[in-house]
Amino acid sequence: MTNVTMTVNGKSRTAAAEGRTLLVDWLREGLRMTGTHVGCDTSQCGACVVHVNGVAMKSCSVLAQEVDGAEVTTIEGMANADGSLGTIQQAFQDYHGLQCGFCTPGMVMSAAALLKENPRPTEADVRHYLEGNICRCTGYHNIVKAVMAASGQQVAPVAAE
Ligand code: FES
Ligand code: FES
Repeated sequence: MTNVTMTVNGKSRTAAAEGRTLLVDWLREGLRMTGTHVGCDTSQCGACVVHVNGVAMKSCSVLAQEVDGAEVTTIEGMANADGSLGTIQQAFQDYHGLQCGFCTPGMVMSAAALLKENPRPTEADVRHYLEGNICRCTGYHNIVKAVMAASGQQVAPVAAE
């Protein structure tokens, strides 16, 4: 075991990691930050996406020791300073971009990375960017609407189901 220190959501955090400890396990078990989810063991689902030094990454495919010293942003860092939902989170709520919510942390983190790169994406851009995030509930359409709305673009309201 070696102590690993990262700046997580703006605060310096230290926890032990074995050589094989994945970043997602370091966050969830080492820091007890369980907003980042694990939805697969094949690096396919995207539920574990966080930002490492500003880049969206699947935290199940990175070793904690590899990113010792990094700046990490997780879903816990996406709320506003007063604890209210951040813009992307609010858009997911407003446009019914979630059902069970399991995929949502990863979706929000991927969406945030997209909007940083491309603040005015087309729907096709959103669908392309979120290809690495799997949702078993929503059919994706409302997720795309939520991301479009979070970018400040007009989106037709979601029809009642
Ligand atoms: S838990 Fe990382 S991609 Fe599924
Ligand atoms: S809302 Fe259930 S997996 Fe996406």
